[in-house]
Amino acid sequence: MTGSGGYDRFGRGYGVTRRPDPRIAAQIDAALSGMRSVANVGAGTGSYEPITTRIAVDPSRVMTAQRAATAAPAVLGVAEALPIADAAVDAALAVLTIHHWPDLESGLAELRRIARRRVVIMTWDADVYETFWLVRDYVRAAARTDRGYAVPLDRITTALGGRVETVLIPHDCTDGFGAAYWRRPDAYLDPEVRAGMSMFARTDPGTTVEGLDRLRDDIDSGRWRRRYADLLDLDDYDAGYRLVVVDL
Ligand SMILES: C[S@@+](CC[C@H](N)C(=O)[O-])C[C@H]1O[C@@H](n2cnc3c(N)ncnc32)[C@H](O)[C@@H]1O
Repeated sequence: MTGSGGYDRFGRGYGVTRRPDPRIAAQIDAALSGMRSVANVGAGTGSYEPITTRIAVDPSRVMTAQRAATAAPAVLGVAEALPIADAAVDAALAVLTIHHWPDLESGLAELRRIARRRVVIMTWDADVYETFWLVRDYVRAAARTDRGYAVPLDRITTALGGRVETVLIPHDCTDGFGAAYWRRPDAYLDPEVRAGMSMFARTDPGTTVEGLDRLRDDIDSGRWRRRYADLLDLDDYDAGYRLVVVDL
């Protein structure tokens, strides 16, 4: 299926660096509390799928092929035209996927159409994300990529309403998305780690070389630890990740 936002190309290593973090999973589970049937849209490899998931939808064969044998059945499809009947599930879930949808409003309307009670969306606030030291101080080109596909939160709340929860990132987060290594800067020097982050996968590597070299120098010289000393005492960090919870 085409239209996977590039995941048929760069999704091969996804299952390696993108392991769901149990603390973030617990927050998503809490947002879905009481929902006895869930459709996971843009489900990919199945991260953060609650056990009540009845069906998963994703356009990428590469991503769905990495799902666990025990995971809910996955069908190939896009959010903008879900192959699911009206009000077929208690809740629709979409985790770190809406920024890939070519027609966001149609996709959001589809989430609302298939869900009887709740829609839960995990995304991020680009204004907060841009204050994250990596993108602010080292890889501005990746920040511009990120900004180019970030979805403003008010586009979601205008379409669906709902409340917004902050998703704090634990210092030892197991899910290698963009800000996961906020207290472990060496990780960003590993090309395999960067390959699992769409802001790097979608940015010309030539434009991030200088910043990553500078990061290596700053780590080696101790400058990074001095410059960001305040982070070293934190257990969790707000890099802008957000959960939008909509009661229908
Ligand atoms: C960053 S991955 C997130 C996967 C999973 N939800 C997770 O949290 O690990 C983004 C997913 O969105 C999917 N995607 C891209 N375009 C889509 C669309 N139009 N409708 C639904 N999913 C889409 C991709 O195939 C990919 O699996």
